[in-house]
Amino acid sequence: MTSSSGYILALDLGTTGNRAFLFDNSGNVISQAYQELTQYYPQPGWLEHDPLEIWQATCTVMQKAIQQAKIKALDIKAIGLTVQRETCLLWDKTTGQPLHNAIVWQDRRTASLCQKLQEQGYAEEIFDRTGLIIDAYFSASKLSWLLEQVVKPSSINLDHVLAGTIDCWILWNLTGGKVHATDDSNASRTMLYNLTTREWDTKLLDLFNIPANLLPKIQPSLGYFGTTKPDLLGAEIPITAILGDQQASLFGHGCDRPGLVKCTYGTGSFLVAHTGNNIIHSQQQLIATIAWTQNDLDGTTKVGYALEGSMFTTGACIQWLRDGIGLIDSAAQTEILAQQVSDNGGVYFVPALSGLGAPHWDMNARGAFFGITGGVKRQHLVRSVLEAIAFQVKEVVQAINDSGVLQVERLKVDGGACENNFLMQFQADVLGIPVERPVMRDTTVRGVAIAAGIACGFWQDDAQLVSFSQIDRVFEPENTQSATSNFQQWLSAVERAKHWVD
Ligand code: G3P
Repeated sequence: MTSSSGYILALDLGTTGNRAFLFDNSGNVISQAYQELTQYYPQPGWLEHDPLEIWQATCTVMQKAIQQAKIKALDIKAIGLTVQRETCLLWDKTTGQPLHNAIVWQDRRTASLCQKLQEQGYAEEIFDRTGLIIDAYFSASKLSWLLEQVVKPSSINLDHVLAGTIDCWILWNLTGGKVHATDDSNASRTMLYNLTTREWDTKLLDLFNIPANLLPKIQPSLGYFGTTKPDLLGAEIPITAILGDQQASLFGHGCDRPGLVKCTYGTGSFLVAHTGNNIIHSQQQLIATIAWTQNDLDGTTKVGYALEGSMFTTGACIQWLRDGIGLIDSAAQTEILAQQVSDNGGVYFVPALSGLGAPHWDMNARGAFFGITGGVKRQHLVRSVLEAIAFQVKEVVQAINDSGVLQVERLKVDGGACENNFLMQFQADVLGIPVERPVMRDTTVRGVAIAAGIACGFWQDDAQLVSFSQIDRVFEPENTQSATSNFQQWLSAVERAKHWVD
């Protein structure tokens, strides 16, 4: 990689925690810091984050990473910021205080509003304009709820209010309240952004009752967003890339052209395929989204689109096994337990803890175990959860193949659960294609670091991206027959868990 001296600071603000990584000019990680994030569940199906905690954690991890590396903030050439997508909030620009906790992407409180829009026949128009399927997952209905339930009753002066996703909130704080902006990839997850014009869509703003002046300016993902306020880190550091976390991971895998596909096994699983400069409106319940945007030297904006299958609960299921029901002590234990039994003992798990995303989009589905008999052991339950994660991904890969855009022939993976060798082997078996795991699993962080480094001229281009991502292991399909026959049984379990709540 072409380089100069200095460092890039990458911030990855995810659903379960906030991380800062420092990269040197050769692309090596020289330090990293992490802080877990409190999850608030005010009601079943609701999930909130405290925006001030996210901001304070961001400051802490940045400072820790800089201290550990024993470098001067002045030597940091740029910051790249990547975040959990769709999660959004309102805040008062005069006080800097959030008006309410942020509503997290997994939160289902606006399911009835979304259902009403479906019944009123808006699905097709919204899909055409935004590439998205009406669901409580996206930000629009959440912002609408905040305006209706928080702002309206307290008659807060709307002139003081700003709205945004987590990137906006953090950028605004990093710059000392100077910049209220987002990038195309995060904007494309709001259901207020028109994929074709790449602007806020006035018709949708009206539909969701969201005043346009609350929303941030939309900028290219790779580009100059502002500098950190001088007293924050002791230097004014430019922020030169902002990306949604799944798009950052796509970038980090080097999936920069049609045909390249990755799947991140994080809180959820997100399978994303780059589709070049084409918006693909698939008929297979996949969503179209921005991959990333970047200004060319002549000032024109290069736009990359993607096709995505968003599956809501992956790491969240493992976390539930550990923290919710105490079936395991650690995520790593799931691999050992799953291997202690030769099959799932007839047990099938539906990972609908936050409803079902692609390709079902059922906000009212709920998680379930099916097929429990007296002989079922803890190992079978754990194994069925891992199998369900792989089955979900198979459904989405099938949907991509059926969309006629591309045939997935190899799957690049990352995220916490890709550490699990049982899961990765089972994934290859059930898909019947190789699953490729990189040495550096933090592909999201790497992606946004490279994006920020390229945008500020620290690295010249992304030509060396592929060599930058060394492969750790390729899982070749082995036992495809039994994995595939269980898939049919799992599909019928999914059907039974649908429409569980009204
Ligand atoms: O769309 C939600 C996604 O961006 C969340 O990612 O890794 O924070 O769970 P993660």
